[in-house]
Amino acid sequence: MTDSHWALILLTWLEVIFITAIGLVLLALVIIYFADVNQSTHTIRKNYPILGRFRYLFEHLGEFFRQYFFALDREEMPFNRADRSWVYRAAKNVDNNIGFGSTLDLTKPGTLLFLNAAFPVQEKDALMPSPVTLGPFCKTPYSSNSIFNISGMSYGAISKPAVLALSRGAAKAGCWLNTGEGGLSPYHLEGGCDLVFQIGTAKYGVRDLHGNLNDERLQELASKQQIKMFEIKLSQGAKPGKGGILPAEKVSAEVAKIRGIPAGQASISPNGHTDINSVTDLLDMINHIRDVTGKPVGFKAVLGEKNWLVELVREIRVRGLEAAPDFITLDSSDGGSGAAPQPLMDHVGLPVKESLPWLTLLLREAGLKDRIKVVVAGKLITPHMVAWALASGADFVNSARGFMFALGCIQALQCHKNTCPTGITTHNAKLQKGLDPTDKAERVAAYQRNITRSVAMIAHSCGLSEPRQLGKEHLHIVGADGFSTPLDSMFMATSRTPLNNQQIASDALADKH
Ligand SMILES: Cc1cc2nc3c(=O)[nH]c(=O)nc-3n(C[C@H](O)[C@H](O)[C@H](O)COP(=O)(O)O)c2cc1C
Repeated sequence: MTDSHWALILLTWLEVIFITAIGLVLLALVIIYFADVNQSTHTIRKNYPILGRFRYLFEHLGEFFRQYFFALDREEMPFNRADRSWVYRAAKNVDNNIGFGSTLDLTKPGTLLFLNAAFPVQEKDALMPSPVTLGPFCKTPYSSNSIFNISGMSYGAISKPAVLALSRGAAKAGCWLNTGEGGLSPYHLEGGCDLVFQIGTAKYGVRDLHGNLNDERLQELASKQQIKMFEIKLSQGAKPGKGGILPAEKVSAEVAKIRGIPAGQASISPNGHTDINSVTDLLDMINHIRDVTGKPVGFKAVLGEKNWLVELVREIRVRGLEAAPDFITLDSSDGGSGAAPQPLMDHVGLPVKESLPWLTLLLREAGLKDRIKVVVAGKLITPHMVAWALASGADFVNSARGFMFALGCIQALQCHKNTCPTGITTHNAKLQKGLDPTDKAERVAAYQRNITRSVAMIAHSCGLSEPRQLGKEHLHIVGADGFSTPLDSMFMATSRTPLNNQQIASDALADKH
């Protein structure tokens, strides 16, 4: 056969394939058309057969493409592109300077302006953060000079390579890693960093067969040198009044073993600790765990109704300073979660911009500010927000999502689906392939170091030799008229919180004397 014959046969086949493909597409469209007009659950598909389906496709794709094509630099939620880009560059340790001018609207209410000093601290006199000791009355107190640490994210909510990268990165940077409520995995320990063991409402990792706190298990954990402190989780900013939620598809055999639950079934923690129903119970539990472990013990909560904290202060005054929690971790209503109901995420609890000044003032007025260290988390992922938190009285700042960005998170908002495209919140091995724990550990460490350096830079600009010297007197906040006022005076003038609180705290003390 000649070449032209072969070409003719090939063309005939291509023609047949093409016509068959067109036929199949037309057939599929006819089937879809009849499926759409004959169903009664989707109005749009019934009224606009076939075309209506594109709406679902575009809605899905919009989640991914909005951030690239449409959202402005300061517009996206939960984190805008300007802040995320700062974190990405800090994690890659590349130049984080910008040119021409700020894209931030400095007249927008709530904008923070630090008060620079006429004579900044010279570089040769500048200091890094000083160490702070937690649990002075414990057998084994803990000292840390790390102002920026990794907030609780359970193994289960996040993947094995993510935990490995965080643990190795924390060790390199010298900060702590909170285990989150899913128990202790070998991956938390692997990097050799300091760990805070979180006791969630289901008490994963420290419970007996009936779900009660198991002292032997507590002792076993406390005997690990790496575990420095224990944190009782009362509530989480993203879902106050709701326990941990790990969807069934994320409960792998290993996650199930570490938690002590069946694999492949959703892991839903109780709303609250069944054995903590009052401030008395809370203090009893703190003291019990501290006695058993010999290590500092505190609790994590998001503030809503606040009188219970005033009661707690009263109870501490009755029992004595030794009985106090060693730290309080304050979470923000706009905090993150692996999975949470939208009404709780959007509308329950107070953000830390309100609750942190309230809490630190309460503790100060009650004479407990030195005894009880304050750790705070909630969208504090950039240097100015960490500096704000220190200026507002926090001793330490924690971040979860800041470190997720350092791991490569692109804010795809799929943590609850096991489909995270960056391998951070999925147990799908294929999706985890791109997350190299060795490389990402460097990014975690670089991010932590660059935050610390940049907060120190703000402090030095304010004429202070180190970040822990920052106070409210170094900050102005822009008001509704576009002009800034001292942060301190704004809070003193807000009868809603600090002044009332000051009164309450004084009353609390007066009651006892
Ligand atoms: C994926 C994910 C998992 C989390 N898991 C826990 C957890 O197990 N325990 C907890 O107390 N908080 C958990 N959190 C909340 C964070 O620890 C933190 O308090 C909150 O996200 C605020 O910090 P951020 O704004 O820096 O993320 C989780 C957050 C995320 C995003």
